[in-house]
Amino acid sequence: MARIIGNVFTSHVPAIGGAIAKGRTQDGYWKPFFDGFPPLRHWVGEVKPDVVVVVYNDHGLNFFLDKMPTFAIGAADSYSNADEGWGIPQTKPFQGELDLSWHLVEQLVAEEFDIVTCQEMLVDHACTLPMALLWPEQDWPVKIVPVCINTVLFPLPTAARCFKFGQAIGRAIESWASDQKVLVMGTGGLSHQLEGERAGHLNKAFDIQFMDSLTADPAWATRTSINDLVKAVGTQGIELLNWLVARGALDATGRPVRELHRSYHIPISNTAGAVMLLESA
Ligand code: DHB
Ligand code: FE
Repeated sequence: MARIIGNVFTSHVPAIGGAIAKGRTQDGYWKPFFDGFPPLRHWVGEVKPDVVVVVYNDHGLNFFLDKMPTFAIGAADSYSNADEGWGIPQTKPFQGELDLSWHLVEQLVAEEFDIVTCQEMLVDHACTLPMALLWPEQDWPVKIVPVCINTVLFPLPTAARCFKFGQAIGRAIESWASDQKVLVMGTGGLSHQLEGERAGHLNKAFDIQFMDSLTADPAWATRTSINDLVKAVGTQGIELLNWLVARGALDATGRPVRELHRSYHIPISNTAGAVMLLESA
């Protein structure tokens, strides 16, 4: 059966793509953020995942405010990105892992999750930038399965629901008849708010507590209501739900988890830039 080898968590701010394209990753502003990644690159180089399940939120590229699935899964054999209006260069298309996509879709529906299955899907900065941070040459050595969570439009799924969704994904991956190694990545956050009266809101104390919880008590955030979580981390910081889904998948394996690396730096653009690597025993 397939095996989940760990979790990578990272912020996904579009300006990261600008810094990469302009060769500014070692400039004073960007260095503290990009310096968080060499240990992750070393790790993926050693463990060599075959597939990445990328849990993120779509920012209006596939789903706009008129049609917003709570949970959506890609089931395509290729995923391209497109001009999102941020001026980030387009990446090479990602090869899909269709067999895992359909296995996930079938298992999740059987477990009573009413997902949307997307046989055509574009991927945005929340998928492409984390992949480029792990594989800077952008010659993707892995296949992907994109999983989109609605962190954008109320009503949002609760943290508890997201964690359970992740656990169901984890059970499905580890019941996939394949010998492939699967990395589950969660992108977005941590605290930030891009609009309204609280634009610029950051919450370092909460972010650190959340990162600590992912190692010590992964269901910690599920005990807080979704509105209180939004109050704590901001209307876009709630992208941490993507991290919780990914962490739920690792939790479902029942195996011990080791934190191998983390980095936290405020701010990148308007966001608390955070990176974390958990390895499954
Ligand atoms: C920013 C952060 C995001 O998560 C995003 O999707 C877009 C922009 C920012 O801080 O600029
Ligand atoms: Fe975002």
